[in-house]
Amino acid sequence: MIMGFESQFLLQLSLLFLICSISASAVTITPGSSLYVSNPNHTTWSSPNNTFSLGFLPADPPTSPPSFIAAIFFAGGVPIWSAVNSSGAPASVDSRGALHFLSSGSLRLVNGANATVWDSNTAGLGVTSALLDDSGNLVLRNGSSASSVWSTFDNPADTIVPSQNFTADQVLRSGSYSLRLLRNGSLTLYWNNSIEYWSQGGSSPDGNLTSPTLALQSIGILSISDPRLPTPSIVAYSNDYAEGTDILRFLKLDSDGNLRIYSSARGSGTKTKRWAAVSDQCQVFGYCGNNGICSYDEHSNPVCGCASPNFEPVDPRDSRKGCRRKVEIEDCPGNATMLELEHTEFLTYAPEADSQAFFVGISACRLNCLVAGSCVASTLLNDGSGLCSFKTAGFVSGYVSPATPSTSYVKVCGPVN
Ligand SMILES: *[C@@H]1O[C@H](CO)[C@@H](O)[C@H](O)[C@H]1NC(C)=O
Ligand SMILES: *[C@@H]1O[C@H](CO)[C@@H](O)[C@H](O)[C@H]1NC(C)=O
Ligand SMILES: *[C@@H]1O[C@H](CO)[C@@H](O)[C@H](O)[C@H]1NC(C)=O
Ligand SMILES: *[C@@H]1O[C@H](CO)[C@@H](O)[C@H](O)[C@H]1NC(C)=O
Ligand SMILES: *[C@@H]1O[C@H](CO)[C@@H](O)[C@H](O)[C@H]1NC(C)=O
Ligand SMILES: *[C@@H]1O[C@H](CO)[C@@H](O)[C@H](O)[C@H]1NC(C)=O
Ligand SMILES: *[C@@H]1O[C@H](CO)[C@@H](O)[C@H](O)[C@H]1NC(C)=O
Ligand SMILES: *[C@@H]1O[C@H](CO)[C@@H](O)[C@H](O)[C@H]1NC(C)=O
Ligand SMILES: *[C@@H]1O[C@H](CO)[C@@H](O)[C@H](O)[C@H]1NC(C)=O
Ligand SMILES: *[C@@H]1O[C@H](CO)[C@@H](O)[C@H](O)[C@H]1NC(C)=O
Repeated sequence: MIMGFESQFLLQLSLLFLICSISASAVTITPGSSLYVSNPNHTTWSSPNNTFSLGFLPADPPTSPPSFIAAIFFAGGVPIWSAVNSSGAPASVDSRGALHFLSSGSLRLVNGANATVWDSNTAGLGVTSALLDDSGNLVLRNGSSASSVWSTFDNPADTIVPSQNFTADQVLRSGSYSLRLLRNGSLTLYWNNSIEYWSQGGSSPDGNLTSPTLALQSIGILSISDPRLPTPSIVAYSNDYAEGTDILRFLKLDSDGNLRIYSSARGSGTKTKRWAAVSDQCQVFGYCGNNGICSYDEHSNPVCGCASPNFEPVDPRDSRKGCRRKVEIEDCPGNATMLELEHTEFLTYAPEADSQAFFVGISACRLNCLVAGSCVASTLLNDGSGLCSFKTAGFVSGYVSPATPSTSYVKVCGPVN
């Protein structure tokens, strides 16, 4: 009897909770409304069935003093969109920050000093309401019509979710990395908008599609569709394809330059990797910063290091920031030498020109660079091509692996350590 009473009580409690959450959330947001990091009465705007919310999350990684990002997040707290600054990083505010839906029609993120750190730039476009829908799209609408003036699906940050269409005029960004879908249907990852380090799909070399669209189905299939393709071209299946219920799958360009599918169970607040575009993380251009060298530790995790003790980390607390010479080459005129690195390949920005590639042997590849003033490093492919390429100053991204046939030389001030 007591147990019966208890379960009845619990049922009533959960019904009450259900009613409360339905009535509290089915709202359109009107201009003049605000969300605050620290005011518990104004922390989130939620979608009608509470699948997604817009509010503040602590910056990841955490900072001291704490900072917060304005994000749309899945039930449990996994972000799928955030306001980003001009560097492509999530725009962050202090604990007195706020997100205002101004009467002008703009959404504006301000810090405690009331300085604007992000703005949707939709003032004067007739915006009269905002709505976060159950697919995770925040839409600013005008007039009584349901037409969208601006939406997060049309202005993606680093993530796309099911029912979001990613088109050829959009870009996902994370720091120096970006993802684009080209007109010919190639899905391509770039460093600094210029160096391509991964690409998949694409029609014939000269053929453009009509309006290629990348989408992730909720069951975990990532594909490109277009009126000119008889069937969608499949990019990847997540490894939990069609499994589980109440799971959100999403595609994210991570800050390490890899593109991944993740899944998150409702309410868990955690995400699990389900697919990665670049299986060898060290192949992500610039992952270890300028002059940094990427390799793997005994647990197969990518690690960033410097070529030799002739170099030192730019930031000892963050090995991904790259390395610099302890003595610059200009500071030891006539006394530079070449450090030999086996199984190492250097890729550069700007990429070497054809005039900087030579068919020469190992000694010439080393010596010709040593005597050439503009050359800072050279790579001999050793792959049967006989190609030696000169690297000039700029951005040098290094990769070492026992399976890499290349030998590289890097110019340092002696003695070689
Ligand atoms: C939150 O709402 C309660 C009840 O209306 C009110 O007493 C309290 O002052 C509010 N808190 C803030 C920080 O505005
Ligand atoms: C963007 O945000 C990142 C991280 O919060 C910060 O390091 C960077 O300086 C910001 N860039 C600009 C232009 O505000
Ligand atoms: C914040 O700045 C805006 C103008 O950018 C101004 O209209 C508003 O009154 C300011 N708010 C506060 C609290 O100072
Ligand atoms: C919320 O709504 C979306 C879209 O209609 C639906 O797919 C989802 O199953 C709903 N979730 C819950 C918990 O009702
Ligand atoms: C709403 O926006 C659309 C497209 O931008 C525009 O054609 C329409 O006139 C606007 N309506 C109002 C009431 O501002
Ligand atoms: C995405 O594209 C499909 C097919 O063209 C369309 O039915 C759907 O409405 C689009 N979704 C959004 C959010 O625009
Ligand atoms: C990134 O590209 C721009 C030109 O688009 C160039 O000026 C800049 O030096 C590049 N960044 C690095 C780190 O090489
Ligand atoms: C698609 O276009 C890009 C740039 O125009 C080109 O580099 C790439 O090779 C093309 N891909 C295919 C498969 O044709
Ligand atoms: C394909 O699209 C690209 C980018 O829009 C354009 O530069 C190129 O001329 C187009 N190629 C063809 C064959 O239409
Ligand atoms: C060149 O380097 C050697 C050590 O490798 C050093 O003994 C010598 O003094 C240097 N000469 C000049 C001109 O810096």
